[in-house]
Amino acid sequence: MTLFMKFWSSVVNALCLPLHVIHALGLYEIYKRIFPIYLYRISICYNKKMHDKKKELFRSLSEFTKPGGRLTILEIGCGTGANFEFYPPGCKVICTDPNPHFEKYLKKSMGENDQLTYERFVVASGEDMGSVEDESVDVVVCTLVLCSVVDVQQTLREAHRILRPGGALFFLEHVAADPSTWVYFFQHVVQPLWYYFGDGCEVIRETWKYLEDAGFSDLKLRHIEAPLTALIKPHIIGYAVK
Ligand SMILES: C[S@@+](CC[C@H](N)C(=O)[O-])C[C@H]1O[C@@H](n2cnc3c(N)ncnc32)[C@H](O)[C@@H]1O
Repeated sequence: MTLFMKFWSSVVNALCLPLHVIHALGLYEIYKRIFPIYLYRISICYNKKMHDKKKELFRSLSEFTKPGGRLTILEIGCGTGANFEFYPPGCKVICTDPNPHFEKYLKKSMGENDQLTYERFVVASGEDMGSVEDESVDVVVCTLVLCSVVDVQQTLREAHRILRPGGALFFLEHVAADPSTWVYFFQHVVQPLWYYFGDGCEVIRETWKYLEDAGFSDLKLRHIEAPLTALIKPHIIGYAVK
């Protein structure tokens, strides 16, 4: 199966040659303007299908409020702000994303969720959130982001750094399928094309392994089958306590 998979993956890779050239010439940056428009629509569908899962996950957010304080959440790669509706009323939110072209959609989501207080929108990658102080937030949220960051380990180190002791990293991520399945095969075959279509997304990441090694004191992680198209059905959901 491995050779067969590598063969087809190489075929798709070769067909992506024009995209590799566009990327190498720096022209792929134009897609950063288009991606938010397209992600806005996708996020509406995703939230409908994943409503119960997100509700169940974010129900635990309030447990991380310090006594007498207000919950402060920092979201890495917040995109269009698709998670805001699931946050407890009254909490403070710091939004971060390396793509500044999301701001228009973020503002729309903020307007629709005015039960929250938005501190700021920081244009930063998860790997480098230097403007955010150490141990300054109760919760970090990452949904559909660890598949896109360039360096997962560094992003998790940054999340760990900015979390206060006892705070938690909440995650919901699509991941690589079981190697014995056809989904795994097709994930690997389409990956070269998926990367461009998904703005740097890797559908073959074994993200749970990075979370297991990230040095959190407690990891609540479940593998689930999301009610989505086969390639992104395998998900992990949970939170990691600092
Ligand atoms: C599929 S979208 C998910 C957006 C949002 N979290 C959601 O659940 O709807 C992936 C997001 O990750 C962001 N992203 C890409 N590379 C990143 C990086 N290195 N650090 C942080 N975010 C990144 C993208 O700009 C985009 O907003």
